[in-house]
Amino acid sequence: MARLDPHSHADAGQPRARHLRLRLTVDFEASRIEGTAALQLDAPAGGPLDLDSKALDVLEVRTESGAAVPFEMGPEEEILGRRVRLTLPEGTREVRLRYRTSPDAPALQWLAPEQTAGGEHPFLFSQCQPIHARSLVPLADTARNRVTYEAEVEVAEPLAAVMSAGPAGEGPGARPGTRVFRFVMPQAIPPYLLALAVGRLESRELGPRSRVYAEPETVAAAAHEFAETEAVIARAEELFGPYEWDRYDMLVLPPSFPYGGMENPRMTFLTPTLLAGDRSLVDVVVHELAHSWTGNLVTNADMEHFWLNEGFTVWAERRLLEALHGGEAAGLAWAIGEKALEESMERFGARSPFTRLRTELAGIDPDEAFSSIPYEKGARFVTILEREAGRPRFDRFMRDYIARFRFTSITTEEFLAFLEDELPGLAARVDARAWLYEPGLPANAPAFRSERRDALSALAQAFPRGERPGPAEIAGWSPAETLVYLQNLPRELDHAGCAWLDAAMGLTGRGNYEILVEWLTVAAGSDYEPTFPRLREVLLRVGRMKYLRPLYGAMGRHPRTRALARAVFAEAAPLYHPLSRRVAASVLEKHADATPS
Ligand code: BES
Ligand code: ZN
Repeated sequence: MARLDPHSHADAGQPRARHLRLRLTVDFEASRIEGTAALQLDAPAGGPLDLDSKALDVLEVRTESGAAVPFEMGPEEEILGRRVRLTLPEGTREVRLRYRTSPDAPALQWLAPEQTAGGEHPFLFSQCQPIHARSLVPLADTARNRVTYEAEVEVAEPLAAVMSAGPAGEGPGARPGTRVFRFVMPQAIPPYLLALAVGRLESRELGPRSRVYAEPETVAAAAHEFAETEAVIARAEELFGPYEWDRYDMLVLPPSFPYGGMENPRMTFLTPTLLAGDRSLVDVVVHELAHSWTGNLVTNADMEHFWLNEGFTVWAERRLLEALHGGEAAGLAWAIGEKALEESMERFGARSPFTRLRTELAGIDPDEAFSSIPYEKGARFVTILEREAGRPRFDRFMRDYIARFRFTSITTEEFLAFLEDELPGLAARVDARAWLYEPGLPANAPAFRSERRDALSALAQAFPRGERPGPAEIAGWSPAETLVYLQNLPRELDHAGCAWLDAAMGLTGRGNYEILVEWLTVAAGSDYEPTFPRLREVLLRVGRMKYLRPLYGAMGRHPRTRALARAVFAEAAPLYHPLSRRVAASVLEKHADATPS
């Protein structure tokens, strides 16, 4: 047997499924999806076919002609789940698996009505990246195997379903009170881009090829926030080549969504914490849109090459930001990213193998290895290539790279070979080997000039010496400048300092979550009680891991905030996505007086 991917049972020597046909029924009462997955093979085949599954019951397997296919479930493996070994009769073109998911499928979060904006209807969303698609559909869950798909999803009225696919009509379901939503995805995607959400949804047109879906209560705010999407798509096409996915729609999820955004093709999933009211957080949309080229068109073969996906996307996001808003705006984004990079380096330690770009993850849960390293170190590596090649040459290289590998999934080594062909000698000149295979940040890491960052960080660092920005100065700061100022303050301040900041900057009442969470992190680290109610409120409502980690982390500094953290977590844990719960629990475990649970 030849493993294709350390996180999949898929076998390189076996037939591959090229197309999926899903017929699913969403049962909120049982927190299960039931249905069939038909896997169409690339050629008629016989013999063993290994699939991945996790927390999922396979009930019956048949071929296209109705012949029973013997199957055997392997032992439960903590990270990989259970192998499903089918034994195909000779000449099989299609296998149909009848199956049902389980309530604790890691790809799915089932929300009670209270967890939604409307409060009246339940909500379901999936998050398949990196290796959770196998808990939604039994398949070969490796990015190396791209598939096209079509789906029919039956839900109870008045709920609606959306998928990472084009809509292909809807109609009454087989049972009374149900509706069926149909989808077709003609472009081949890695399984981690399968996506489904079900809820009370409305949509608003944003432009010729985009709309935003959200609950009725948030859809107007969402339409306002993301009104400029078409301009970004158009600029991105100039930089990276044609947009190949037809439409770019977005879905705003309930606040427990564990990420800021997820680049599900044709339907980016977004956290509602982006709805700041002033379009100041659309860089997340820019990032997810950029994945339409760097990621969804050219992605990592498996999670050991994840940097190819996120590093290029962060680079593309900032390249776009610069094209749209200028060098100073991009400079601040790099400065904010640098903080994230420092945090991750500190968390793992600069010698940790998790700080390599090309990682080795056999036996390791990719969710555990997740950090800002592939993003920010990856983007810095791409930048040094860009600087060495020169902007015009590198812009051409990027377009060629995307055109060459579109709709494939590649390794670091395939990228390097292409780089050497196109720009001979460049990899050696920047010491690509050290960047890709060594831990830490190489000494030739690119610097990003930003006068605003320098001024703001000097001002913030002088805070303990009594230096304060004036009201007019504060009023003139953009959200990014405000964030950079806060990020450069000491992590612990005296209470008079906290009170001054909150009064002068109106921080506790902010609707921009980047600013709010940075402030609450400093306030919690300072044991500053007036912010505790807001802190509690955020931790009980929002499941975005990027926010839970620093907030729970800062609460570890003082006995009073440690107690608060434990109390809030006990209340919030059942509401959190399993990933968020795990992150919060692991942060709490590191608190000084943590008691084993
Ligand atoms: N694809 C990622 C999210 C992800 C990565 C989910 C790995 C599961 C496993 C998405 O594109 C992303 O990077 N989101 C960021 C946005 C940010 C970098 C602008 C986030 O959620 O914070
Ligand atoms: Zn990303």
